[in-house]
Amino acid sequence: MTKYRAAIVGCSRIGGFIDNEVRGSHVVLPYSHAAGYTACKNTDLIACSDLRDDVMFEFGRQYNIEQNNQYTDYKKMIDIEKPDILSVATQPEIRSEIILYALSKGVKAIYAEKPLAASMSQAQEIFNAVEKKQAVFNLGTNRRWDNGFNSLKNLISKGDLGEIKSITVYGGGGLFNSGSHWIDLIMYLNSDNEILSVQGDVPGIADMIKNNILFEDPEGFGVLHFSNGIKGYYCSSGIHHEVKVVGDKGVVNVLNNGLTWVLDPVPYDEFNVNSEHSNSFPEFAKESSTLKLIEDIVCQLDGVKETRGGIRAARDATEVIFALIQSELTNGSKINLPLEDSEIILKRNMTAKKPKYS
Ligand SMILES: NC(=O)c1ccc[n+]([C@@H]2O[C@H](COP(=O)([O-])OP(=O)(O)OC[C@H]3O[C@@H](n4cnc5c(N)ncnc54)[C@H](O)[C@@H]3O)[C@@H](O)[C@H]2O)c1
Repeated sequence: MTKYRAAIVGCSRIGGFIDNEVRGSHVVLPYSHAAGYTACKNTDLIACSDLRDDVMFEFGRQYNIEQNNQYTDYKKMIDIEKPDILSVATQPEIRSEIILYALSKGVKAIYAEKPLAASMSQAQEIFNAVEKKQAVFNLGTNRRWDNGFNSLKNLISKGDLGEIKSITVYGGGGLFNSGSHWIDLIMYLNSDNEILSVQGDVPGIADMIKNNILFEDPEGFGVLHFSNGIKGYYCSSGIHHEVKVVGDKGVVNVLNNGLTWVLDPVPYDEFNVNSEHSNSFPEFAKESSTLKLIEDIVCQLDGVKETRGGIRAARDATEVIFALIQSELTNGSKINLPLEDSEIILKRNMTAKKPKYS
């Protein structure tokens, strides 16, 4: 059995401690990158890097990373430790720099957090470098590795819901931080079909941009027009984290961020409003999406090429975010993809939170 050496840049919440925030909820652990590498029998977590010594110290204590293998300079860590897999669990503003350096130094696989990058040119640069190096790449859009969403995708593919009309996510939060999950999910459920155009609603965006610098993560929503005719709606409705897939033979509702899964085999019918709705959503095993994502990286390193993730989807979801912004800036116009000449770059003045250590 091949064991791969993994290292992490960004030892904070999703890097190492987020399990302490969600323990006791329906989220299946391990959830953080470090907990995932620890649980995976084919990976060893060998080193870590963070600018914050105190956070890295706690991380080292929790995951048995000796002080010699803790680095404030991620470049030094990559040069000395030569990991096979690098996690980039920082905020997006610094992500492309780290990924590009790692790839230039021969790192074979990247597990990057979402969103992929802070600008379209950064996203494209990462895409080009991953393709050039034939590197393995997965983005932390966990629902691609969630068994429930994969059961749903299966129902769609088998035709159990009939002809799909729409995929809707009720979301909220920043487009980069939260929207990146949900836009990716809409794309995934539609088998990463080509997106022809988008229209966005990103209230107040003009006041958040100066000289192409976007200094806040805006809340935003919109419509994705796919080439197979399916529409993806990313909606603001006051309720968060719900998904609805509507076909002409069935409707699936995913409620409470994946706690409840409902399949109504009969679509809503105005002449049959009293019909009994029988929930027959298939049973599925509750497993850690982070672990499955890491196992997918391992499989690819072992030579199995098929993946649920990949760099193309990561780049395309980033393009949707910038196109939604572009749409709002041009009075809600329809923005055809590929997005041309996007020069906006996300640059927030952020202070990282103290992670929950226990
Ligand atoms: N997949 C998920 O479900 C999920 C959940 C939470 C967060 N995230 C994503 O993960 C990313 C990180 O989120 P977080 O809340 O853990 O972030 P955070 O802001 O708490 O932590 C980022 C860490 O990166 C470190 N860092 C910054 N620059 C660095 C550098 N040059 N070298 C080494 N370390 C550096 C910071 O010191 C900090 O400790 C975000 O993009 C976020 O959207 C994903």
